[in-house]
Amino acid sequence: MSWLPSPSPEATCLVTGASSGIGAAITRELAGRGYGVTVVARREEQLRALAAECGREYGMRVEALPCDLLNPEQRAELPGRVESLGLRVDVLVSCAGIGTYGRFVELAAARELEQVRLMCEAAVDLCGAFAPAMAARRAGAIMLVASGIGLQPVPGYATYGASKAFEIAFGEALQAELRGAGVAVTVLCPGPVDTEFFAANGPQPVQRAAPRPLWQDPEQVAKAGVDGLGRNRRVLVPSRTFRALLAVGRLLPRRLLLLAIGRVLDGSSLTSTAGSTWS
Ligand SMILES: NC(=O)c1ccc[n+]([C@@H]2O[C@H](COP(=O)([O-])OP(=O)(O)OC[C@H]3O[C@@H](n4cnc5c(N)ncnc54)[C@H](OP(=O)(O)O)[C@@H]3O)[C@@H](O)[C@H]2O)c1
Repeated sequence: MSWLPSPSPEATCLVTGASSGIGAAITRELAGRGYGVTVVARREEQLRALAAECGREYGMRVEALPCDLLNPEQRAELPGRVESLGLRVDVLVSCAGIGTYGRFVELAAARELEQVRLMCEAAVDLCGAFAPAMAARRAGAIMLVASGIGLQPVPGYATYGASKAFEIAFGEALQAELRGAGVAVTVLCPGPVDTEFFAANGPQPVQRAAPRPLWQDPEQVAKAGVDGLGRNRRVLVPSRTFRALLAVGRLLPRRLLLLAIGRVLDGSSLTSTAGSTWS
């Protein structure tokens, strides 16, 4: 039995962060399985191109709803915009994300706050908008796209990692609360994935420091995520290699782990303007 509600002409899968990368791949994965999808991000042109592609490739309806999720007014309008299309949200995928890299004290405070607002506040807001109706119908599915970085603190990703840790803790608790109501919740925690993320957020040493076997394509991650949501997997790390690395990390004392991760990233590219090292 799958926890994913069956496709229905009155229902949709709302996917945020769908204009590129993992969100676009999840949209294709869902459309390929016969689901209508409503795609959300700021770049309308990319959303419309994806909608047209899904119509062409899979014969599925996909609507583009451009929205800046950092804008509370635009976010608040989303449920009404979906409703006015005559659709109810059976599946919610919260995938929109941004992430800075660097020493917290050297990063722009406003951009750090935006990460918290996008990946914590907006994710909770969207779950608040759609989860109660799913629970009342006793059917629905929610995927929160977090990150392996949320599973342990990573120097250089203080705010990003903490925002992802929030999504993981929030999603795990939701999963426990909602499984009795017939609603699946999966937190997807990928390792490094080849997407526009690095172009959009500035160069990050993980691009050089992470060995090739750790990298996945957005398509692999999307398939694993949707399969995992169908099984109501609580937390899903889609890469076996990355899972093994996390398991080794759990054996180390936190102090050593932080030192090792900082050294790997620092040694690969980041040097402080003050010339200091992570340790
Ligand atoms: N790539 C990785 O290595 C990796 C690893 C683990 C987890 N993740 C997570 O996976 C998710 C998707 O990332 P990705 O790798 O696919 O990167 P991406 O290609 O840069 O996608 C990020 C998406 O978020 C959207 N977004 C950003 N700010 C937004 C805003 N204010 N309002 C609405 N949408 C916004 C972007 O669309 P617009 O710019 O059009 O708004 C885009 O669709 C993120 O949550 C990321 O943290 C990525």
